[in-house]
Amino acid sequence: MIMSNNGKHRVAVCSSAELAEGQRQLFDIDGVEIGLIRVEGKCHAFRNSCPHQGVPMIYGSVVGTMVPSRPQEYVYGHHNEIIRCPLHGWEFNLKTGKALFSPGVSLKIYQAEEEAGEIVLYVDREPLQVTRKQFFCAL
Ligand code: FES
Repeated sequence: MIMSNNGKHRVAVCSSAELAEGQRQLFDIDGVEIGLIRVEGKCHAFRNSCPHQGVPMIYGSVVGTMVPSRPQEYVYGHHNEIIRCPLHGWEFNLKTGKALFSPGVSLKIYQAEEEAGEIVLYVDREPLQVTRKQFFCAL
């Protein structure tokens, strides 16, 4: 286990090839499920539990959203920067985890990097057990 400069623990969870563009992976790290997705080349990692009612966010859609605009105008923005909960549609910024409707509500986000052909997560504590989880994915 390697500690990064910011005090996080480095965990290589899979090869880069196992997280191709648009693919998802799900891991259990000491009982906490973490979803991984690659969007436009960038890896994003998030807790697999919606802060509303705990639905698995691994089934969330990666989308854009309507942004503030003048009356009678409809402006789309933030393309592929948002993950939307599959149950009630709460939307979260994939980089910050903040809910679009309130910065006081967040989906937990983890640092995820691609390093030398591996996908690496940086977590707060040194993990004792890391397992890959199966999930149904027709996305
Ligand atoms: S469970 Fe995610 S918005 Fe309700």
